[in-house]
Amino acid sequence: MSKTLGIGILGCGNISAAYMRLSPLFRGIEVRACADINEAAAKARAEEFGLRAETVDGLLAASDIDIIVNLTVPAVHYEVSRRVLEAGKHVYSEKPFVLSLEEGEALAAIAKEKGLRVGSAPDTFLGGAHQLVRHLIDSDAIGKVTSGTCFVQSPGMEMWHPNPDFFFQPGGGPILDLGPYYVSNLVQLLGPVKRVCAMSSSGSEYRTITSQPRYGDKIKVETPTTIHAVMQFQSGAQITYCASWDVWQHGHSNMELYGREGTLHVPDPNFFGGEVRMTDKGSFVTLSEAWQHPFSKANDRGHANYRTAGLADMALGILENRPHRCSLEFALHVVDVMTSILASGESGTFIDIKTTCERPEALDPQAAKALLV
Ligand SMILES: NC(=O)c1ccc[n+]([C@@H]2O[C@H](COP(=O)([O-])OP(=O)(O)OC[C@H]3O[C@@H](n4cnc5c(N)ncnc54)[C@H](O)[C@@H]3O)[C@@H](O)[C@H]2O)c1
Repeated sequence: MSKTLGIGILGCGNISAAYMRLSPLFRGIEVRACADINEAAAKARAEEFGLRAETVDGLLAASDIDIIVNLTVPAVHYEVSRRVLEAGKHVYSEKPFVLSLEEGEALAAIAKEKGLRVGSAPDTFLGGAHQLVRHLIDSDAIGKVTSGTCFVQSPGMEMWHPNPDFFFQPGGGPILDLGPYYVSNLVQLLGPVKRVCAMSSSGSEYRTITSQPRYGDKIKVETPTTIHAVMQFQSGAQITYCASWDVWQHGHSNMELYGREGTLHVPDPNFFGGEVRMTDKGSFVTLSEAWQHPFSKANDRGHANYRTAGLADMALGILENRPHRCSLEFALHVVDVMTSILASGESGTFIDIKTTCERPEALDPQAAKALLV
């Protein structure tokens, strides 16, 4: 088998540029073609990055494409990924890769029958900062983690994204849109979740777009925009998780984990890098600089940005016949947790999580280096 798999990008919107810009950093993948239902968008990205523009059907049939990266909007992720698998290609989807357990199980069944892989973003938990936290937890630096907090709160998305409607429709909202970063990182650090409870609300019935080109347009809010949840992990840890797009400012840190012997401050799981701070029973020390992890280095506009690491790990997993870290089983557990939080917010009851998963294998500095060209 060739040492490189051909990649096709399906969905040429905002985030596609990051995949096209960053994929050349990695072994095992070569982005060759792109497509979009908006053919002008595909042509524009193809021209910008020297790719071949295809129609959607053309991309699904292309003989030089092994993996299709699904960068469409969440409402159609399942349908698009299903078509990719049925076309006989592996699929790697942006998050959330499905909107329900049933959709994830249906994709798993097709993938199993056809011997194909399904992978899903986010891959930021593979970042240097989060892998340092993983290393500290696994080496018992703060003892058993008993509790923690996560805060992801902002005024919203309608002030920066050119087409922000999907954020306020079912499939969007701060849990399904940003939750994948937070919940995935917690599951890779602490293992699977056992049960959840939550309260939810929406700060406004309509949002007004202040980005261009649709300045002034109104969006009806059809999913909760403020959710306060508590997650109980199988390990016994309990984590408070507040996600909101109704908050102008706050003073909470992104993620704090409390262990029997100390505390860890974890940087924003939406990014690969950032400052990790730890204390035992004394004062905080910053540890990030001592950890020489390739995915901590600023490489993209002043930030550590290694998006597509999860895709490359899946391609190399196929080529090397080993599991990939951003797996269907892991992503489906995260979807189960997030949809259960939303269901608990509606019903006011505790919800037991139906799925479980193994923690993805840690990506130490050497393993990360092996993903790079
Ligand atoms: N924008 C970001 O910064 C960002 C960051 C991380 C993850 N994501 C995720 O990436 C995904 C895409 O986000 P985006 O911001 O690029 O959205 P976007 O709206 O800018 O782009 C989506 C593209 O998909 C195309 N599309 C829609 N339905 C399609 C279909 N059935 N077949 C083919 N193409 C179709 C649209 O024409 C559009 O060009 C979302 O799941 C989002 O959560 C976005």
